[in-house]
Amino acid sequence: MKRVITYGTFDLLHYGHINLLRRAKERGDYLIVALSTDEFNWSKKQKKTYFSYEQRKQLLEAIRYVDLVIPEKGWDQKRNDMHLYQVDTFVMGDDWTGKFDFLTEEGVKVEYLPRTKEISTTKIKADLGIKSTDHK
Ligand code: CTP
Repeated sequence: MKRVITYGTFDLLHYGHINLLRRAKERGDYLIVALSTDEFNWSKKQKKTYFSYEQRKQLLEAIRYVDLVIPEKGWDQKRNDMHLYQVDTFVMGDDWTGKFDFLTEEGVKVEYLPRTKEISTTKIKADLGIKSTDHK
């Protein structure tokens, strides 16, 4: 069984995310999504998500391409995850091109997929007037 992993926040789930997840799943048989926790988003990425970790996790688990959702708690867990989850292929959108090439040292294939044009969580928030520092 070929196992694929991808990482991200996936807030206000949109069709760009779905496109990414579909193409990630096509690269194997089992797709793991490492979902950034609220704590990681806030402390390291200065992002306040609209949906909580549990809400974002539920949405991802309802998608047919996703087999397992695990927490992403920090930048440095990736090397270890490759072995823990017996990953064959690591996939990210091409806004991250080159950033995770070092994972090939752990024996995985690293692929960056073209982002879907003209949609992002940031754009949705801006269009709806939601500030990323808004608290619920
Ligand atoms: N992604 C994509 N196409 C988009 C938006 C996101 O392929 N239009 C991919 C990203 O490249 C990443 C994954 O989806 O691999 C999760 O991205 P995330 O940062 O959670 O979504 P964004 O919409 O980019 O969020 P933000 O605007 O907050 O950066």
